[in-house]
Amino acid sequence: MSENSMYDLSGKVAIITGAGRARGLGEAMAKRLAAEGAKVAVSDLGVASGPHFDEANIGTSDELEAVAAAIRDAGGEALAVPCDVRDEAQVANLIAEAVKSFGRVDHMINNAGVGYLMGPLLETDADTWNAVLEVNLRGVFFGIKHAAEQMIKQGDGGRIISISSQAAKRGFKDLAPYVSSKHALIGLTRTAALEFASHNITVNAIGPNHVTTGLGASQNEYRAGVLGITVEELMANRRGRIPLGREGYVSDIANMCAYLCSEQASYVTGQAYDVSGGEEMH
Ligand SMILES: NC(=O)c1ccc[n+]([C@@H]2O[C@H](COP(=O)([O-])OP(=O)(O)OC[C@H]3O[C@@H](n4cnc5c(N)ncnc54)[C@H](O)[C@@H]3O)[C@@H](O)[C@H]2O)c1
Repeated sequence: MSENSMYDLSGKVAIITGAGRARGLGEAMAKRLAAEGAKVAVSDLGVASGPHFDEANIGTSDELEAVAAAIRDAGGEALAVPCDVRDEAQVANLIAEAVKSFGRVDHMINNAGVGYLMGPLLETDADTWNAVLEVNLRGVFFGIKHAAEQMIKQGDGGRIISISSQAAKRGFKDLAPYVSSKHALIGLTRTAALEFASHNITVNAIGPNHVTTGLGASQNEYRAGVLGITVEELMANRRGRIPLGREGYVSDIANMCAYLCSEQASYVTGQAYDVSGGEEMH
């Protein structure tokens, strides 16, 4: 545990997918859980993979190693495991690698997501639809399934947290596959919470509003372009809509993640939490 920690996660093991992109939510959650004493397996795609997963939009192997190295430099324990969450065998291998290195899995954070593929519904082709759904929904399904299997085998509970979005609770123009995937993720969360409750495994989702990560920045550029305004103007408009008057920070999401992993959240399951400065209230 570091000086700034609030929850004692020592002895726990966490896996975070999509944690290899600098400035991302995954990086922040991994560092926070490590600061609370957890051993962390950080994971990401690592290499470009076809037209929808170019190097500019994904966490590369170097970035992923850098996240793990920063955690070790800060005194934590971290392992970097490349994993494409679209591939069930790779997700199973990610869990196995964490168990091999750290002995168990207590927290599974399904964070990998694609949000930069934007466009009007009428111009969205099947490949784009599949690319988004395969990461944001099918990938989370694999993460939940294989982590729960391991946790059930261990026999002493666990925590599964998936990163949804405010796009899980309302529509957004030009994001039909993304919004659909995030809405569905809440149904998956609720169902998994019911099925695993008897094993003391809690399953929850966190729904951020805008955070200027790599993904958030590309959404900003797209939106500003459509509206014919600058990104600064877009951000100012957005702040005006958010009751607490600012956009989200990666630390806001890491705070909620650490809480949900802690003993203090042991009676919380099947929830989809808005972390949005009051922009979403339902
Ligand atoms: N930034 C925001 O405003 C915002 C708001 C709401 C929800 N979210 C969600 O938060 C999560 C993290 O996003 P972020 O904003 O930190 O962006 P990010 O781009 O930094 O992180 C997403 C990560 O997912 C990884 N990824 C993509 N395809 C993958 C695959 N097939 N296998 C494994 N990893 C893959 C990327 O490489 C990247 O590192 C996503 O699920 C996103 O939808 C973000």
